[in-house]
Amino acid sequence: MNNFSRIGFILAAAGSAVGLGNIWKFPYITGEYGGGAFVLIYLIAVSLIGLTIFIAESYIGKEARVNAADAYQIVSKSKNSSWKFAGFQIVTGIVILSFYAFIIGWILNYILISFTGFPNDIQKAENLFNNLVTKEIGKQILFHTIVTLTVAYIIVKGVKEGIEKLNLILMPLLGLILFGLLIYSFTLDSFSKALEFMFMPNWDKVNENSILAAVGQAFFTLSLGMAIVITYSASMDKKTNFVKSSIMVAVVDTAVALVAGIIIFAFLFSAGAKSTAGPGLVFISLPLIFSTWGIFGQIVGCAFFVALLFAGITSAVSLLEPPLMYLMERYKVSRVKGTILCSLFFYILGIFALLSMSEDFGKFLTFFEKNLFDWLDYLTSSIAMPISGFITCIFLGYFVDQQELEKKFTIHINKIVFKIWLALIRYIVPIAIIILFLNKLGIIK
Ligand code: PFF
Ligand code: NA
Repeated sequence: MNNFSRIGFILAAAGSAVGLGNIWKFPYITGEYGGGAFVLIYLIAVSLIGLTIFIAESYIGKEARVNAADAYQIVSKSKNSSWKFAGFQIVTGIVILSFYAFIIGWILNYILISFTGFPNDIQKAENLFNNLVTKEIGKQILFHTIVTLTVAYIIVKGVKEGIEKLNLILMPLLGLILFGLLIYSFTLDSFSKALEFMFMPNWDKVNENSILAAVGQAFFTLSLGMAIVITYSASMDKKTNFVKSSIMVAVVDTAVALVAGIIIFAFLFSAGAKSTAGPGLVFISLPLIFSTWGIFGQIVGCAFFVALLFAGITSAVSLLEPPLMYLMERYKVSRVKGTILCSLFFYILGIFALLSMSEDFGKFLTFFEKNLFDWLDYLTSSIAMPISGFITCIFLGYFVDQQELEKKFTIHINKIVFKIWLALIRYIVPIAIIILFLNKLGIIK
């Protein structure tokens, strides 16, 4: 069988979870929302909402053992096929991949820059990044193409030979690089300041937007609502304790986010830089700091961007498997053909998305004051992901045989833990999602 080994599943799921969301996004939103208090809210969001849904998706995949579009149907055991619509999640993943791929392309660009030296004043650093995004279309398309081909190549080789092997190599390397960077940041005077910033709650900056951001990030960071956990769990060894492995993935993901935050803030504070740089934190502020450390900065910078690259590639691969598995099972296409089809789709959509940020083409790809890139991000992260999460909660909470659910869960965990999980999935998480969703759409304040 072409299944994951037990450790292979955890590594692959962790590989999907640990991505740009941990090393790029988590630190900058922590910076924007004021540090420690936000981290605390985030930890609550991950453990109550994120982990609950992760376990749910893992259960659905493991029981159904098919692509995500058919999985709900099978687990529901009902004759009518209305649950099939829950499979729209596989589209969310491939849309995310369209922009995730060219952002990984930016990272390739910064790895190359580390060989020649990083920009040494703020103007240059800003220009470098802004020019890349708004002017250098050819370069971006070239990197986007390289990333697409790499991801497609790994996916063609299959679950065991492609995905599992990739993660078996890249995840330990990623861990090693991060560990090295952490040790280095420990030697800086700013290390304790970084710890203080990350772990001393300052409630002044917290508002409902911080909570929204924390819950959104909890979804994104654990790769939820995109059929990934369902798809990977379908290839999980039947005897695996899916609750335990879910917890392990969440712990690894959280640890990486926290470590990345500590490293990045220690670096930033060492030069007195601000924590509130937004998305440019990693692509503008950090290179500037690396430039002040001379050749050593080039090495540290290179290591940092390689870590980001590894994290990104293992996540990108996971976004392609769900739609591919669907095409293979439903339409009986071969793995190669399916990969080409899916890759072409996200490749082309990605090119339009990157063009939508360019000076020359942006105006043609902007609708209702949002460019295509922002639309794709908004529709996936703010709309599709919460809806999928909500459906998953309602599905398991109310539409499957609860006795069977209890039986299957309590093989692995004790009854009280199951009851807690059930209360979360039936009441707390769906209600939280609805409130946040309506708030985000501006319907309630
Ligand atoms: N979880 C990944 C991250 O935090 O970067 C990103 C991601 C991967 C999101 C796969 C969604 C996904 F399906
Ligand atoms: Na993540």
